Amino acid sequence: MTAIRGFVGASRREGVLGIHSMDNFNMFVPDLKKAQEFYTAFGLDVREEGNLLGLYTFGHGHRWGSLTEGPSKKMSFLSFGVFEDDLQMFRGHVEGQGVKLIDPPPGFESNGFWFRDHDGNLIELRVAEKTSPSQKSETSNISVAANQAAAPLRSKAETVHPRRLAHILIFTRDVDRAIIFYTSVLGLRLSDRSGDGIAFLHGVHGSDHHLVAFAKSDAPGLHHLSWDVGSINEVGLGAMQMADKGFSRGWGLGRHVLGSNYFHYVRDPWGSYSEYSSDIDYVSADHDWQAGDHAPEDAFYIWGPTPPSDFTTNYEGESQT
Ligand SMILES: [Fe+2]
Repeated sequence: MTAIRGFVGASRREGVLGIHSMDNFNMFVPDLKKAQEFYTAFGLDVREEGNLLGLYTFGHGHRWGSLTEGPSKKMSFLSFGVFEDDLQMFRGHVEGQGVKLIDPPPGFESNGFWFRDHDGNLIELRVAEKTSPSQKSETSNISVAANQAAAPLRSKAETVHPRRLAHILIFTRDVDRAIIFYTSVLGLRLSDRSGDGIAFLHGVHGSDHHLVAFAKSDAPGLHHLSWDVGSINEVGLGAMQMADKGFSRGWGLGRHVLGSNYFHYVRDPWGSYSEYSSDIDYVSADHDWQAGDHAPEDAFYIWGPTPPSDFTTNYEGESQT
């Protein structure tokens, strides 16, 4: 039975400066029509907004991401949310770290400020509602009593609609430098890592085990966008819904070790992925998560099929069909 939960306000660790959410992202894609087809099939609410496509989840007013037409797929910027009364202190803190503030990209308004990270990625800190969860997200594994059928007919299966953007994994030239930059400048905290290959960071004001993660590559780039769904059943159903629409390449069903989430990754038209994710670990605002450094063979996934051989290839900048 699903417990009914009351409203939970934004959680916060008082007296600590840190971003509270991955607020939104912008990405260049070579074909907006193809993008619209892919993300609509994935179950997102894709809206045409001027020369952008806005990526929304049904039942939530927040724009999690936007897509702009460009010569090739490329992560354009990441925007992180901060509490309003932290903004001025944050600006001084970032500049105090020797980071130069820069103008916003053309066409994007900002109530905050912009700079580049250790890899040259464009970053915004903006005042925003806390969209990272303030408690562990609810998940369910619905079962029925004896003498009833639990599964619907396949033709009656409901379309999967993710609830929110969960996290983003990007490539970096240097995982150590990424950890240093994002913890010291943005106030994120290390959740877990695997040597210099991958690292997962959470928000100090309460967030999933990771709201951003970094994987080693020879260039920056997007590896995947992760979208939260409410059950393992929806992870599998989402994968089927995509395969039925021609998007059958990917990896899953499986369960990760670091973060513990159940996953299925669907390969997008540009060689990166959108992930259906469920039941990821949660780090509360009042909890000090003990970060671990884990051997690669012990840290990737507990169970699942063998990943595609190019699963961790950074295709950014290359045209994919
Ligand atoms: Fe993920």
